[in-house]
Amino acid sequence: METILSSTTLQLRPLHLPSLSSTASPFLTSPLRICRPTKRTTSVQINPSSSILPLKVSATSQAASASTETSTSSSIPSKMKAWVYDEYGGVDVLKFDSSVSVPEIKDDQVLIKVAAAALNPVDFKRRLGKFKATDSPLPTVPGYDVAGVVVKVGSQVKGLKEGDEVYGDIHEKALEGPNQIGSLAEYTAVEEKLLALKPKNIDFAQAAGFPLAIETAYEGLERSGFSAGKSILVLGGAGGVGSLVIQLPWSGHC
Ligand SMILES: NC(=O)c1ccc[n+]([C@@H]2O[C@H](COP(=O)([O-])OP(=O)(O)OC[C@H]3O[C@@H](n4cnc5c(N)ncnc54)[C@H](OP(=O)(O)O)[C@@H]3O)[C@@H](O)[C@H]2O)c1
Repeated sequence: METILSSTTLQLRPLHLPSLSSTASPFLTSPLRICRPTKRTTSVQINPSSSILPLKVSATSQAASASTETSTSSSIPSKMKAWVYDEYGGVDVLKFDSSVSVPEIKDDQVLIKVAAAALNPVDFKRRLGKFKATDSPLPTVPGYDVAGVVVKVGSQVKGLKEGDEVYGDIHEKALEGPNQIGSLAEYTAVEEKLLALKPKNIDFAQAAGFPLAIETAYEGLERSGFSAGKSILVLGGAGGVGSLVIQLPWSGHC
């Protein structure tokens, strides 16, 4: 049987918990030898030590490791730098704000000092107001994908501790009430279940390039009923999702 998977026509939604759990995910605990971020995934690397230019945008494939020097829970500031918009519209609504409140964590969340974040098509679609009926209230900090270091843990957090290097897609539901503070910030609060330990053999920028795109690729393959012996045509195969759709079956994870 032949399946046609079009990244522009399939209604893809991100996979949820099992695939991004630090204990259950094959992607996040294995070496990821085959799946590499493509140049198309824009990764925003945040250098915690720079006071002049705190955000550096670079292609994932070219980015260097971010500093892992980070705050301890006793040195977390009350305000942070972040990209914010308080109205829907074009790119001009996006403002850099150096006095955004650092989010409080809930019992099941950790606070991450962000080392790198990545942008996906959903970020600009959301900014344009395409999902306003189910969006969280404005102002909001965009960004789904994150990689960074845990600096504080909630009382119910069992599997992560301060100092752990983690990555994930911070919004449990992509379009329904995503967190107000996304990943384009110095700190972001994330449920433990949405994170996994960052593999040692990829840097923060590479790790941030994976979560939402690989969730989407995996779910697309799953929904298409793809399995051994079947063939599949991937349209947009050079893109973030498409390139992972092509590589996942060969990685032994599908
Ligand atoms: N990234 C995610 O996590 C995610 C999640 C859910 C849904 N989606 C959806 O999945 C789709 C792909 O996302 P992405 O992140 O992979 O985007 P992307 O990295 O920009 O890749 C888009 C791909 O589509 C190709 N393309 C664009 N216009 C085309 C056209 N008219 N005809 C044929 N090919 C065309 C591009 O080819 P060129 O290289 O030649 O430009 C590129 O290979 C988008 O519709 C997005 O909204 C993405």
